[in-house]
Amino acid sequence: MTVELTQFELLPLLRGALIARDNTPVVLQPSQAEPTVTISADGADVAEVAAAVAAALPTDLSLPATIKVTAGGAAAVVEASKLGGAATVPSSRQPEAGHASSRAGVVAGRVALVTGGAQGFGEEIVRSLHASGAWVFVADLNIDGATRLTEELGERATPIKVNVADEDSVRAMAEQVVATTGGIDLVVSNAGIARAGSVLSQELSAFQLSTEVNYVAFFLVTKHLGQILRQQHVAAPDWTTDIVQINSKSGLVGSNRNAAYAGSKFGGIGLVQSFALELVDHRVKVNAICPGNFLDGPLWSDPDNGLFVQYLRSGKVPGAKDVDDVRRFYESKVPMGRGTHGADVMRALFYIVEQDYETGQALPVTGGQVMLSS
Ligand SMILES: NC(=O)c1ccc[n+]([C@@H]2O[C@H](COP(=O)([O-])OP(=O)(O)OC[C@H]3O[C@@H](n4cnc5c(N)ncnc54)[C@H](O)[C@@H]3O)[C@@H](O)[C@H]2O)c1
Repeated sequence: MTVELTQFELLPLLRGALIARDNTPVVLQPSQAEPTVTISADGADVAEVAAAVAAALPTDLSLPATIKVTAGGAAAVVEASKLGGAATVPSSRQPEAGHASSRAGVVAGRVALVTGGAQGFGEEIVRSLHASGAWVFVADLNIDGATRLTEELGERATPIKVNVADEDSVRAMAEQVVATTGGIDLVVSNAGIARAGSVLSQELSAFQLSTEVNYVAFFLVTKHLGQILRQQHVAAPDWTTDIVQINSKSGLVGSNRNAAYAGSKFGGIGLVQSFALELVDHRVKVNAICPGNFLDGPLWSDPDNGLFVQYLRSGKVPGAKDVDDVRRFYESKVPMGRGTHGADVMRALFYIVEQDYETGQALPVTGGQVMLSS
């Protein structure tokens, strides 16, 4: 009996087998070249196919190589390569773990995807991951912005148009990832929107949109990209991968006249904890980062529609005469006296990826504005 695999199922198995062999992430890209190595693998289930692929991999196969793999009904010809500067993730077993200087190395050579990566926190995360040697998919509704960013970054950066609140769109995103790199190591679910408003008057449509983009979308992204991570794990049982939700301090404490946002973010923490409990079986860690206000980002600082301008116009900050007054008001709420920067979020992200021994957590990055209790 043979199991029929799709390309979506087959490529992560092969990628997993290569990762398990070399203990370092690889990239599989579609190839027109003549195959130099052919691996055929049949089995009654996916685990058997994975074992057959791993057993059939020549031990002297050095990357980059062109590999043809067939299993059941599927076949794929791919270029397998390691990214330049690839480094294995320091683990607690390695003495260099814990040194700040080794942090950037935790993502080198890894494949990452950032939803909402075209601007704001997402753009900062994309730039930092890419500078640290990762392959980065910039997945955004704003495909023009995503394309501009990837063109600026050059190699190892791929734009994907996605609406994270639409299941067909998220499924297609996952398929594009597999068709481009054969799999993935780090998913950053960052896309989000804020729709502030009083519970006494907010339109249902605004509440629902916030829930769809901030809450339901995290389920969809985890469902479809998690399938790739599970498949890789079958062939690479010791390889740890990550799903990180960019949540908010509003996922930890309520937010006045901002219930749609805070409710969706609180819900996100419940999903993080629950997904973490389930996906630990596939060696996938699931964690959240909860930043404070990104006062220098476009959401706040946009001169036309940013929150500073909106709050000035609506008189939300008593006595504020200009946007600087509004900004100072929000800075004064932070014990450390400033808004959150992209670099603050990145330190948390590097920690989460590097830390082998933690999952299901929500990590505040708020300059002391929000402190965890119980
Ligand atoms: N800005 C802040 O002060 C702040 C604070 C804490 C947490 N956060 C969180 O950080 C994340 C990013 O926020 P930001 O301020 O950088 O936002 P932003 O508005 O600057 O950027 C959001 C990006 O997401 C994209 N996007 C929106 N809806 C989408 C959809 N349906 N599908 C795909 N892409 C979509 C947008 O095109 C944009 O590129 C959000 O989850 C937000 O809740 C932001």
